[in-house]
Amino acid sequence: MFDLTGRTALVTGAGQNVGAGIAAALAGQGARVVVNDIDPARAADMAATITANGGAAVPLPFDVTDGPAVEAAVGSFGPIDILVNNAGNGGAERLAIKPFREMAIGDWDPAIAVNLYGVLHCCHAVIDGMCEQGWGRIITISSGAGTGGVNIGVSHYSAGKGGGLAFTRSLALEVARQGVTANTLALGLLAAPDPKVTERIARAIPVGRTGTPIDVAAACVWLASEEASWVTGQTVQINGGSITT
Ligand SMILES: NC(=O)c1ccc[n+]([C@@H]2O[C@H](COP(=O)([O-])OP(=O)(O)OC[C@H]3O[C@@H](n4cnc5c(N)ncnc54)[C@H](O)[C@@H]3O)[C@@H](O)[C@H]2O)c1
Repeated sequence: MFDLTGRTALVTGAGQNVGAGIAAALAGQGARVVVNDIDPARAADMAATITANGGAAVPLPFDVTDGPAVEAAVGSFGPIDILVNNAGNGGAERLAIKPFREMAIGDWDPAIAVNLYGVLHCCHAVIDGMCEQGWGRIITISSGAGTGGVNIGVSHYSAGKGGGLAFTRSLALEVARQGVTANTLALGLLAAPDPKVTERIARAIPVGRTGTPIDVAAACVWLASEEASWVTGQTVQINGGSITT
């Protein structure tokens, strides 16, 4: 089950953390992985790591917020069977955190650009190829911040993440008869750089720990597989049991 041999998978923002875990897992199931990141060195390093571990991977750096650059890079590469829209958070910058009332017009642009426009650009670049070949898998990495409200100063990020998942759901319906599925994984919080913060977050999660890239990657392998062909338009919460709406 879940054999991805012969499939080509593009994972955006795969140079570190969650994206790197997804890329490694897809390669482990036999997919050839196209490792995207806005940072060319990160993309190259991760592709080299996968290759060193016996997988097949190539780096393809581009900025998902730059529509023409996405079309050019993906177009030059050839058909993509599996797309994982992972690049997110604040994009190339750290996510700005403040209450909405303290934001100026435009403060939300970077978060919307990477978390919503990035998803649209990458889907647009691959969707015709998937429909024409009659097979495709799109997995968008969203967040509990996009499915429920959070009071931590990330309303702009919520808007981007909620937009990405709403778009993915409608795209799923448009292409359902062409053998293409599109689903969203809404993540809870993963380990933070500060172990004390991680510990505090973990206490509020029902299973008692923060998430890991492997938790997310395992769900991606399933949704990317042949066996998940009857699953589309869904949002799966990967969050250690937190109840969200
Ligand atoms: N970490 C969490 O707790 C958490 C929680 C919920 C959802 N998520 C989502 O999971 C995904 C991965 O999160 P992470 O914590 O691993 O992120 P991260 O910030 O650690 O890594 C993201 C990677 O994406 C790359 N990137 C950023 N902007 C890009 C762009 N415009 N084009 C191409 N690449 C770009 C970065 O260079 C980086 O290597 C994101 O979509 C994030 O919103 C994360």
